Amino acid sequence: MPEAVIVAAGRSPIGRAFKGSLVNVRPDDLAAQVVSRVLDRVPQLDRTQVDDLMLGCGLPGGEQGFNMGRVVSLLAGLDVPGTTITRYCSSSLQTTRMAFHAIKAGEGDLFVSAGVECVSRFANGTSDMPQCQNPRLQPGNPEGYPDVYIAMGQTAENVADREEISREEMDRFAARSQNRAVQSQNDGFFDREIIPVELPDGSRLGRDDGPRPGTTAEVLGTLKPVFRENGRVTAGNACPLNDGAAAVVVMSDVRARELGIKPLARIVSTGLSALAPEIMGLGPIEASRQALQRAGMSIDDIGVVEINEAFAAQVIPSARGIGLDAFDDRLNPFGGSIALGHPFGMTGARITCTLLNGLRTLDRNIGLETMCVGGGMGMAMILERLD
Ligand SMILES: CC(C)(COP(=O)(O)OP(=O)(O)OC[C@H]1O[C@@H](n2cnc3c(N)ncnc32)[C@H](O)[C@@H]1OP(=O)(O)O)[C@@H](O)C(=O)NCCC(=O)NCCS
Repeated sequence: MPEAVIVAAGRSPIGRAFKGSLVNVRPDDLAAQVVSRVLDRVPQLDRTQVDDLMLGCGLPGGEQGFNMGRVVSLLAGLDVPGTTITRYCSSSLQTTRMAFHAIKAGEGDLFVSAGVECVSRFANGTSDMPQCQNPRLQPGNPEGYPDVYIAMGQTAENVADREEISREEMDRFAARSQNRAVQSQNDGFFDREIIPVELPDGSRLGRDDGPRPGTTAEVLGTLKPVFRENGRVTAGNACPLNDGAAAVVVMSDVRARELGIKPLARIVSTGLSALAPEIMGLGPIEASRQALQRAGMSIDDIGVVEINEAFAAQVIPSARGIGLDAFDDRLNPFGGSIALGHPFGMTGARITCTLLNGLRTLDRNIGLETMCVGGGMGMAMILERLD
């Protein structure tokens, strides 16, 4: 059976939604730039030979509609099949998993797994309109369905309550994320994964908007809760709203060898789980357990763990649930989404870029990527570094 290997990866900088650097860029144009530039990194490849361009997008409506995957295929000069996939925050981890499965099944040798979200552009339409929700699923429904439409901030408050995560610990974790991201930005760490993008005014953007120098837990402690009166989740210990795109090229090891391409990593295993939507933030626990079990590994085998930071309230107990202290050096060593941002559809592929970069920088071999997913799910993937 062929192995699925990653041969190239890259991402745009992440902009702050509505007030950041990417507000004027359409999601399809942004994703096309990133896909094209990531494919440039593997000149041995004929881009018209891509079997499918699979584009993750959390809310594929408005400018993100019209099966954006195929639109991006044309804009990036591939003219290959294209599909748009949503699994909310793990959309572009889902697309990498689909490439992994297709290659293992012998149905294709070359896939682009990309992801994009431009929250700034939601003013022009979105896929998820509150008036379209099924009334049968509303809270208190007589059929006993869970609250699948629950706001993400409310799920974070639920998890903080249930797992007894203090505001002080959440702010300490958020400050750590900010400080690590600022340090990594200053060290040039992110320059190794960022593809500078051209903006409509002709200028180029090569740096994330998000990291805030000088963030301390004390400053964060002064911010007011935003989702619940007397709650613990603030603008400082939650991820912000963002714009960005990322792409990963996944190939069979056989074809990579034939073309003389040295892979960056092998996809070892993945995991996918469901849990109550009201506590979706704990999704990484079961998904990671699955991925570890399928890989025949334990958490001790993992050199770098990237848990998507939707909220400090959920990363802390998720880390514990997979056997890691939330302040362990192996966890999000270069900062995470609280500082960098979380453009939903981009995040799966963004974290893959950061994980590959981190494994190489720290000279470690095995990485785990995992995240919680709105609606009550978790996803995980284990990579083995090969470069
Ligand atoms: C939490 C949320 C409502 C806050 O929205 P917002 O008020 O527009 O947030 P901002 O990031 O602009 O921050 C607001 C203010 O908080 C303060 N602040 C935020 N982070 C800070 C930090 N690290 N240090 C100091 N002050 C900070 C600042 O005063 C900031 O204003 P400024 O940027 O003009 O300086 C929004 O970011 C959100 O919805 N996040 C969750 C997204 C989500 O659910 N994603 C899916 C997860 S599954």
